[in-house]
Amino acid sequence: MVSVGVGVSFWYSMAASGARIALFLRRHHLDSGTMKVIAISGGGQGLGRAIAYHFAALGYAVSISDTDVAAGRETLAHLKAQDAAALFVRTDVAKAEEVNTWIARTVKDLGVPDVLVNNAGIMIRKDVLKLKPQEFARVIATNLGGAFHCSQAAAKAMAKRGTGGVIINIASTRAFMSEPNTEGYAASKGGIVALTHALAISLGPYRIRVNAISPGWIEVGDWQKSPKTVKPHHSKEDREQHPAGRVGIPADIAQACQFIAENAGFMTGQNITIDGGMTVKMIYAE
Ligand SMILES: NC(=O)c1ccc[n+]([C@@H]2O[C@H](COP(=O)([O-])OP(=O)(O)OC[C@H]3O[C@@H](n4cnc5c(N)ncnc54)[C@H](O)[C@@H]3O)[C@@H](O)[C@H]2O)c1
Repeated sequence: MVSVGVGVSFWYSMAASGARIALFLRRHHLDSGTMKVIAISGGGQGLGRAIAYHFAALGYAVSISDTDVAAGRETLAHLKAQDAAALFVRTDVAKAEEVNTWIARTVKDLGVPDVLVNNAGIMIRKDVLKLKPQEFARVIATNLGGAFHCSQAAAKAMAKRGTGGVIINIASTRAFMSEPNTEGYAASKGGIVALTHALAISLGPYRIRVNAISPGWIEVGDWQKSPKTVKPHHSKEDREQHPAGRVGIPADIAQACQFIAENAGFMTGQNITIDGGMTVKMIYAE
């Protein structure tokens, strides 16, 4: 009994000093300007929140934007509770001037982003014969326009600093295949894949790498702001229709972001599909 008690307190004290060392390193890195900075649009909920927590745990300073203030504040509070250097700026990515304000605040408070994740996105699923032009335009302006606005603002700061950077665009398998009545979303995501190779070429001289991730079905119910959080339930059919045998989780995408940001120095202009194998499956009716 005694030896167990000593062991537990020993490991608690080791863990506590480990946390203090990690905090010291983070603060020291920030003070000395060597801490890495990531900016994530739509970081209040869902994939964006998961990517924010993932990179904070890696020691990055994290700047998030979102139109949902409650969601953004909740994510920010969690990041700060983990001792991460963090910032939330309410921003509609469809509006270039709001994006410029977000990136300027990020540069001022945390430093030039080393990594930008264009994650904010919306979908309107509506009968194509009834879809209003302004509804189609809103989806394009948010998903595709937003990715362009954030990329341009972050790239200006990265280019001015002169040490390169990484841009990750969250597209979708719906860039390549569709369910009915998703025209705006599919077009915006197809546009993001094309924007990715265009930016990769234009920003290559600044050593800014630009890549896309196309997720399939990623469960984000448990990554919504508190009143909207739901415990996911997936049927056997939900799981088994995926060759990988399960629905995706946000960590699948956050880990891919980490790979692109930190281990893919020779990769630019590419799109990685992360969908448990759904888009390579033949679906002829039996
Ligand atoms: N979850 C999936 O299965 C899946 C699959 C493929 C692609 N994606 C893409 O991943 C990204 C995140 O999706 P999610 O499932 O986490 O969605 P989500 O709705 O859970 O989170 C999106 C966040 O973006 C914010 N947002 C919406 N419009 C905005 C705007 N104009 N400006 C700033 N923020 C805005 C929302 O408030 C929300 O917090 C989206 O681009 C989506 O298209 C998701």
